[in-house]
Amino acid sequence: MIALGCDHGGYNLICAVKKYLDEKGIEYKDFGTYSTESVDYPVYAYKVATAVANGEFEFGILCCGTGIGISIAANKVKGIRAAVVNNEFGAEMTRRHNHANILCMGGRVTSEEDAVKYTDIFLNTPEEGGRHDNRLAMLAEIENGTLNI
Ligand code: RB5
Repeated sequence: MIALGCDHGGYNLICAVKKYLDEKGIEYKDFGTYSTESVDYPVYAYKVATAVANGEFEFGILCCGTGIGISIAANKVKGIRAAVVNNEFGAEMTRRHNHANILCMGGRVTSEEDAVKYTDIFLNTPEEGGRHDNRLAMLAEIENGTLNI
Protein backbone atom coordinates (compact mmCIF):
# COMPACT_ATOMS: atom_id res chain seq x y z
CA MET A 1 0.00 0.00 0.00
CA ILE A 2 1.41 3.34 -1.09
CA ALA A 3 0.73 6.80 0.37
CA LEU A 4 0.60 9.58 -2.20
CA GLY A 5 0.84 13.33 -1.80
CA CYS A 6 1.66 16.42 -3.78
CA ASP A 7 1.35 20.18 -3.97
CA HIS A 8 0.11 22.13 -6.99
CA GLY A 9 3.56 21.88 -8.66
CA GLY A 10 3.49 18.09 -8.46
CA TYR A 11 -0.19 17.49 -9.17
CA ASN A 12 0.28 16.42 -12.80
CA LEU A 13 3.06 13.98 -11.90
CA ILE A 14 1.09 12.35 -9.11
CA CYS A 15 -1.83 11.89 -11.55
CA ALA A 16 0.55 10.05 -13.90
CA VAL A 17 1.82 7.94 -10.99
CA LYS A 18 -1.77 7.10 -9.99
CA LYS A 19 -2.54 5.97 -13.52
CA TYR A 20 0.52 3.67 -13.42
CA LEU A 21 -0.50 2.26 -10.00
CA ASP A 22 -4.06 1.67 -11.25
CA GLU A 23 -2.75 -0.18 -14.30
CA LYS A 24 -0.53 -2.36 -12.10
CA GLY A 25 -3.30 -2.97 -9.57
CA ILE A 26 -1.20 -1.47 -6.76
CA GLU A 27 -3.26 -0.06 -3.90
CA TYR A 28 -2.72 3.48 -2.69
CA LYS A 29 -4.25 6.27 -0.64
CA ASP A 30 -4.13 9.77 -2.06
CA PHE A 31 -3.61 12.38 0.68
CA GLY A 32 -4.00 15.30 -1.79
CA THR A 33 -3.77 17.98 -2.92
CA TYR A 34 -6.34 17.36 -5.63
CA SER A 35 -5.84 20.25 -8.06
CA THR A 36 -3.29 22.76 -9.35
CA GLU A 37 -4.53 25.45 -6.96
CA SER A 38 -1.65 26.77 -4.86
CA VAL A 39 -1.14 25.00 -1.51
CA ASP A 40 1.67 24.53 1.03
CA TYR A 41 3.79 21.43 0.36
CA PRO A 42 4.69 20.77 4.06
CA VAL A 43 1.04 19.84 4.73
CA TYR A 44 1.10 16.94 2.25
CA ALA A 45 4.65 15.92 3.12
CA TYR A 46 3.61 15.66 6.76
CA LYS A 47 0.46 13.63 6.05
CA VAL A 48 2.31 11.09 3.90
CA ALA A 49 5.49 10.95 5.99
CA THR A 50 3.66 10.32 9.27
CA ALA A 51 1.52 7.62 7.61
CA VAL A 52 4.67 5.87 6.32
CA ALA A 53 6.60 6.36 9.57
CA ASN A 54 3.83 4.78 11.66
CA GLY A 55 3.87 1.69 9.44
CA GLU A 56 0.46 2.17 7.86
CA PHE A 57 2.06 2.33 4.39
CA GLU A 58 5.15 0.60 3.03
CA PHE A 59 6.15 3.50 0.77
CA GLY A 60 5.23 7.08 0.03
CA ILE A 61 5.43 9.07 -3.18
CA LEU A 62 5.52 12.86 -2.96
CA CYS A 63 5.67 15.40 -5.76
CA CYS A 64 6.11 19.17 -5.74
CA GLY A 65 7.63 21.55 -8.29
CA THR A 66 11.19 20.34 -7.79
CA GLY A 67 10.73 17.41 -5.41
CA ILE A 68 13.07 19.23 -3.05
CA GLY A 69 10.79 21.17 -0.69
CA ILE A 70 8.47 18.24 -0.15
CA SER A 71 11.45 15.92 0.53
CA ILE A 72 12.97 18.31 3.05
CA ALA A 73 9.63 18.44 4.87
CA ALA A 74 9.17 14.66 4.79
CA ASN A 75 12.68 14.07 6.12
CA LYS A 76 11.81 16.05 9.27
CA VAL A 77 9.62 13.11 10.33
CA LYS A 78 11.50 10.49 12.35
CA GLY A 79 12.01 7.25 10.45
CA ILE A 80 11.63 8.82 7.02
CA ARG A 81 14.23 8.52 4.30
CA ALA A 82 12.79 10.61 1.47
CA ALA A 83 14.86 10.82 -1.71
CA VAL A 84 14.55 13.27 -4.59
CA VAL A 85 14.97 11.23 -7.74
CA ASN A 86 15.54 12.58 -11.24
CA ASN A 87 17.29 9.68 -13.00
CA GLU A 88 16.92 5.90 -13.22
CA PHE A 89 20.20 5.16 -11.45
CA GLY A 90 19.12 7.27 -8.48
CA ALA A 91 15.74 5.53 -8.33
CA GLU A 92 17.51 2.19 -8.01
CA MET A 93 20.36 3.15 -5.74
CA THR A 94 18.26 5.02 -3.21
CA ARG A 95 16.37 1.77 -2.59
CA ARG A 96 19.46 -0.47 -2.60
CA HIS A 97 21.71 1.73 -0.48
CA ASN A 98 19.55 4.24 1.40
CA HIS A 99 16.47 2.04 1.88
CA ALA A 100 14.47 5.12 0.92
CA ASN A 101 10.85 4.85 2.00
CA ILE A 102 9.54 7.91 0.16
CA LEU A 103 10.17 8.75 -3.49
CA CYS A 104 10.09 12.47 -4.27
CA MET A 105 9.88 13.95 -7.75
CA GLY A 106 9.42 17.38 -9.29
CA GLY A 107 6.67 18.24 -11.75
CA ARG A 108 8.70 21.14 -13.13
CA VAL A 109 11.83 19.06 -13.80
CA THR A 110 10.63 15.53 -14.58
CA SER A 111 8.31 14.37 -17.36
CA GLU A 112 5.28 12.20 -16.59
CA GLU A 113 6.87 9.36 -18.57
CA ASP A 114 10.09 9.53 -16.55
CA ALA A 115 8.17 9.80 -13.27
CA VAL A 116 6.41 6.52 -14.07
CA LYS A 117 9.79 4.93 -14.93
CA TYR A 118 11.34 6.07 -11.64
CA THR A 119 8.28 4.88 -9.72
CA ASP A 120 8.48 1.44 -11.31
CA ILE A 121 12.18 1.11 -10.49
CA PHE A 122 11.75 2.43 -6.95
CA LEU A 123 8.91 0.04 -6.11
CA ASN A 124 10.67 -2.98 -7.59
CA THR A 125 14.21 -2.61 -6.25
CA PRO A 126 15.15 -4.48 -3.06
CA GLU A 127 17.21 -3.15 -0.17
CA GLU A 128 20.82 -4.31 0.26
CA GLY A 129 22.11 -5.01 3.74
CA GLY A 130 25.67 -5.30 5.03
CA ARG A 131 27.55 -2.00 5.12
CA HIS A 132 24.35 -0.13 4.24
CA ASP A 133 22.66 -1.36 7.42
CA ASN A 134 25.45 0.21 9.47
CA ARG A 135 25.03 3.52 7.68
CA LEU A 136 21.26 3.46 8.17
CA ALA A 137 21.82 2.78 11.86
CA MET A 138 23.97 5.92 11.90
CA LEU A 139 21.15 7.92 10.29
CA ALA A 140 18.85 6.75 13.05
CA GLU A 141 21.45 7.78 15.63
CA ILE A 142 21.58 11.27 14.10
CA GLU A 143 17.79 11.42 14.45
CA ASN A 144 18.04 10.34 18.07
CA GLY A 145 20.98 12.60 18.89
CA THR A 146 23.09 9.59 19.87
CA LEU A 147 25.63 9.42 17.01
CA ASN A 148 29.05 9.10 18.61
CA ILE A 149 31.85 9.97 16.19
C1 RB5 B 1 5.70 25.86 -5.18
O1 RB5 B 1 5.69 26.97 -6.00
C2 RB5 B 1 7.10 25.27 -5.13
O2 RB5 B 1 7.89 26.04 -4.30
C3 RB5 B 1 7.04 23.84 -4.63
O3 RB5 B 1 6.25 23.09 -5.49
C4 RB5 B 1 8.36 23.11 -4.55
O4 RB5 B 1 9.03 23.15 -5.76
C5 RB5 B 1 9.21 23.45 -3.42
O5 RB5 B 1 10.31 22.90 -3.24
